[in-house]
Amino acid sequence: LAGTVGLVSLSMAACGGGSSSGDSSGGGQQTVFKLAFNQTEEHPQYLAAVELGKKLEEATDGRYSIKVYPNEQLGTQTDVVQNLSNGTVEMMYIGGPVMEGFNKDFIVYNLPYVFDSIEAQQEVFRDQELNDELFHSLEASKNITVLAALHAGVRNVYSSKGPVREPSDLSGQKIRVQQSDSQVKMIELMGAVASPMGQGDVYSALQTGVLDGAENNETVYDSLKHDEIAKYYSYTKHLMIPDYLLISSKALEGMDDADREAFLALIPDTQDMADTGFLDFVEESKANAESLGAEFVEDVDTAAFKELVQPLVDESVNENDARKALYAAIQEANAAHPAS
Ligand code: GCU
Repeated sequence: LAGTVGLVSLSMAACGGGSSSGDSSGGGQQTVFKLAFNQTEEHPQYLAAVELGKKLEEATDGRYSIKVYPNEQLGTQTDVVQNLSNGTVEMMYIGGPVMEGFNKDFIVYNLPYVFDSIEAQQEVFRDQELNDELFHSLEASKNITVLAALHAGVRNVYSSKGPVREPSDLSGQKIRVQQSDSQVKMIELMGAVASPMGQGDVYSALQTGVLDGAENNETVYDSLKHDEIAKYYSYTKHLMIPDYLLISSKALEGMDDADREAFLALIPDTQDMADTGFLDFVEESKANAESLGAEFVEDVDTAAFKELVQPLVDESVNENDARKALYAAIQEANAAHPAS
């Protein structure tokens, strides 16, 4: 057995990550990239990843493929990203705030009320020159390459206690946020008590009353069944933050040049497919939550929340020139694509 394990790791090292196996199509070796995802098979990011795998297999004559593991099967995002860094998982989707643990400059895209429209966000995320430094900043130190930034909805507060129309409504409420300093500070400034945790723990924490609520887009609210418990979904519209598609830098480097080029050429379509599907998924999720008795609260004093979080935005953005440049690009995109 020990001999077998040795052989497997040798072949993995040779191809730079990914598990290898005989390939049914051509008889050669196939490298399968494991891609971890923390949501369901209905999610457009899941569907886009499956499609990417199929196209990759075609484009490389079966030398590469992707196996997508949904529903947090491979662990929470904070655990999986360590495994990606160590080389035991090759790809994953990750929420923007988790990236702050590796390079704080990622914070700029995770700040409240910075993007005025989806179009503005998409323009910024598709600007390769702008993002070049940030997206490649973790390759040497952490083996992490950012392939794409995706639209991951607009996040709003939901609670089992009642509608949240103004900051005082959040007073004393324990609200789950993603695991990063920016998210903790943000929800505290908005008036709540922060409870950072992985997404998979939220349902039972809501059920047992450890949490009063959380903040997320409509798709998570419905597909992870938080709408069964926290009935009031209030449009605070405080965040529009990315998910990133990550790959192990070594796995990418391990591909031969033609295969790598073919792979990278597929990424823009993956990004478009995930983004486009998201908008429909929001509508379906909302309708389903409503049919389960959830109440969507529109009359929220977003200006009051925005004013409270502004110090976090200012202090985070002014930290260094790299962040100032990203923030300036957001302002430009906002001017070109104002809120509708
Ligand atoms: C969204 C996002 C995920 C993230 C999750 C969370 O679903 O797409 O990447 O993990 O929110 O709040 O943890």
